[in-house]
Amino acid sequence: MLRKSLLVTGGAGFIGSHVCDKLLKQGHEVICVDNFFTGSKRNITHLIDNRYFEILRHDITFPLYVEVDQIYNLACPASPMHYQRDPVQTTKTSVHGAINMLGLAKRLKARIFQASTSEVYGDPDMHPQREEYWGNVNPIGPRSCYDEGKRCAETLFFDYHRQHGLRIKVARIFNTYGPRMAMNDGRVISNFILQALKTEPITIYGDGLQTRSFCYVDDLVDGVISFMDSPDSFTGPVNLGNPEEISIKDLAEKIIKITSSNSKIIFQSLPSDDPRRRKPDISLAKNSLGWIPTTILEDGLKKTVDYFDQLLKEDMHILPESISNIDR
Ligand SMILES: NC(=O)c1ccc[n+]([C@@H]2O[C@H](COP(=O)([O-])OP(=O)(O)OC[C@H]3O[C@@H](n4cnc5c(N)ncnc54)[C@H](O)[C@@H]3O)[C@@H](O)[C@H]2O)c1
Repeated sequence: MLRKSLLVTGGAGFIGSHVCDKLLKQGHEVICVDNFFTGSKRNITHLIDNRYFEILRHDITFPLYVEVDQIYNLACPASPMHYQRDPVQTTKTSVHGAINMLGLAKRLKARIFQASTSEVYGDPDMHPQREEYWGNVNPIGPRSCYDEGKRCAETLFFDYHRQHGLRIKVARIFNTYGPRMAMNDGRVISNFILQALKTEPITIYGDGLQTRSFCYVDDLVDGVISFMDSPDSFTGPVNLGNPEEISIKDLAEKIIKITSSNSKIIFQSLPSDDPRRRKPDISLAKNSLGWIPTTILEDGLKKTVDYFDQLLKEDMHILPESISNIDR
């Protein structure tokens, strides 16, 4: 196998650190770039001694000069709680970050992957969402910094492709979960697991009948890497996620069962712009990459619960080290 040199932005984050793991396992050289806004050194500590792994503390809203063969652009806070903390920086990361990484890819003639999101579909009136659907996004709401930032990044990727012949790979990632999710990110799986492990009430926003679909991180990373390695003609956008739907109430009950918790479920009002349903149509990924998620929710949840349980025991459930210490 030819060893490639690969850049992973957001490599100290939840998904990015698993991408680094897998690429190193495949025998490649990885440069991980992160400003540690939501990422954690803990996610990559096990890689520090690997001679093919390098970390750069850098904010991708500023230009970066490195020599690599491929770029995985994953840097961006992903949970509403994190991306709404500094919405202007979120848009900058998506838009200026994309411009900087695309400029780098252009100079290096490198293939570049973009971690886009199901949020580009907004509050969809098409179910399940197919890639041809243009979305239903509020441009001025509290989630817009993320949704519109990611939409603009997609535009930039396709314009660089059309205008400069750049080799692009745009994936729309749906809800992903697994070990190394930030505990304090306010996302439904981390919230429920944490509440269940601490025997606190499990809070459901709305009536709990809204559905979500969750993809285990190992499955997602397999999809991301096989997409990157697919022929140049397949640019995406392609949905990557798990189409299996579950209601939020059923999810809460499943987590209570797995953790053998005595937590009770309580209901609170729904935040604005929260979509009722979110489910990917993954036929394109299936037909073009032969990819489908294989981890059943029960198994993925057990691994995630074990990880959170361990963190709680280690008393590591602290804010990402840089929330108050961000490079800007
Ligand atoms: N987790 C999901 O369910 C999900 C769903 C859809 C899309 N995505 C996308 O996948 C990517 C990774 O998400 P995640 O869940 O691992 O989130 P995460 O917050 O764990 O990881 C993002 C990483 O990017 C870093 N980062 C943020 N801004 C940066 C900047 N300006 N410069 C350098 N580094 C920066 C953070 O410190 C963090 O390490 C994101 O682009 C996100 O939008 C994730």
